[in-house]
Amino acid sequence: MTLLHWHYPTEILVGEHASSQLASVCKTRSIQRPLFIVDPALTDTQAVRELVLSCQSADLPSSIFSEFSGNPTGEQVEYGIACFLEGNHDGIVTLGGGSSIDIGKAIALVARQQQPLWQFEDVGENWTKADANLIAPVIALPTTAGTGSEVGRASVITDTQRQSKRIIFHPKMLPVQVILDPVLTVELPPHLTAATGMDALSHNLEAYCSPSYHPMAEAIAIEGMRLIKLYLPIAHIDGGNLHARTQMLIASTMGAAAFQKGLGAMHALAHTLGGRYNLHHGLLNAVLMPYVLCANRHYLHEKMLRLSHYLELENEGFDGVLEWILALRKQLHIPHTLSDLGVNVQDQKAIAAQSVLDPAASGNPIHLSQEQYENVFYHALNGTLDL
Ligand SMILES: [Fe+2]
Repeated sequence: MTLLHWHYPTEILVGEHASSQLASVCKTRSIQRPLFIVDPALTDTQAVRELVLSCQSADLPSSIFSEFSGNPTGEQVEYGIACFLEGNHDGIVTLGGGSSIDIGKAIALVARQQQPLWQFEDVGENWTKADANLIAPVIALPTTAGTGSEVGRASVITDTQRQSKRIIFHPKMLPVQVILDPVLTVELPPHLTAATGMDALSHNLEAYCSPSYHPMAEAIAIEGMRLIKLYLPIAHIDGGNLHARTQMLIASTMGAAAFQKGLGAMHALAHTLGGRYNLHHGLLNAVLMPYVLCANRHYLHEKMLRLSHYLELENEGFDGVLEWILALRKQLHIPHTLSDLGVNVQDQKAIAAQSVLDPAASGNPIHLSQEQYENVFYHALNGTLDL
């Protein structure tokens, strides 16, 4: 397969075995001592060993940091910074899913700054406090197709004291190079292929539904959903299908490129619940998706009509899209309710209050009040769609 070079929104190298270019990419980016940030589940894999070896053979001394969880915390960012400074590293190579890429970008931003991590929370002009020249370059090799963090300028990090997820932002956190190699994703088990793929769908879908004006993002989002409709079921049942895996990696970067237009209540609730219950972000979005769509139903008539035509769904309009999503979730063995994930009813008011304030909430098609968030949460717990 031919390797393709894309420059939107950052430089992207796409294709089977594209990761074999890593050492030369490091050199092009003036990285002499890369710190690998590797998903703990991947550190012993042949693919990681080969990549680290390829750098060492190319005279690029490197070490590996993998002391972090699925929802990386502020403390884990601090450990990573200590590792970066101790090894005198000058760049970061992230290998893994969203957690690896997010923590890698956060370490790259903060390691050489004077201020601590939370000073760069995505609030107002906080990012201008950073000395942009001190931010380390990041090369991202996603091993899941979901978050699209590899083409994003922010990281989601859990603040354990506040029990919430906080967004860290700087324009220069955007990886300087992304390598989309489907070979790195073939080992992803079906349940994670499903959950991460549904995260990619939620990005494209929420971006598409968001009312702000951004025709480019909207065009990317609708095509991203078409790719997911075609290729997520294939990647789920046939993980070794490199064509489907490639298309899902692309759809994932498209979702993240599109959601500069806005996200919505799926992510507002998923951020809140992820911070409290330490649940998989993509899985939460997948469960929440139909309930949030129903809450927004009356504001989505024209868009859902267009989407149903573009996706060539069996039935048109909102009901056609809802039917497709429910069938897709079933096909991917995604649970139907939050109760199935172990979420309980006791925090209902606090969860709604926190979700209203989540930065993603502002992109929702309509402003949902705290009571409306409570209502969506109630329905998602119980599996009822009559919102
Ligand atoms: Fe997401």
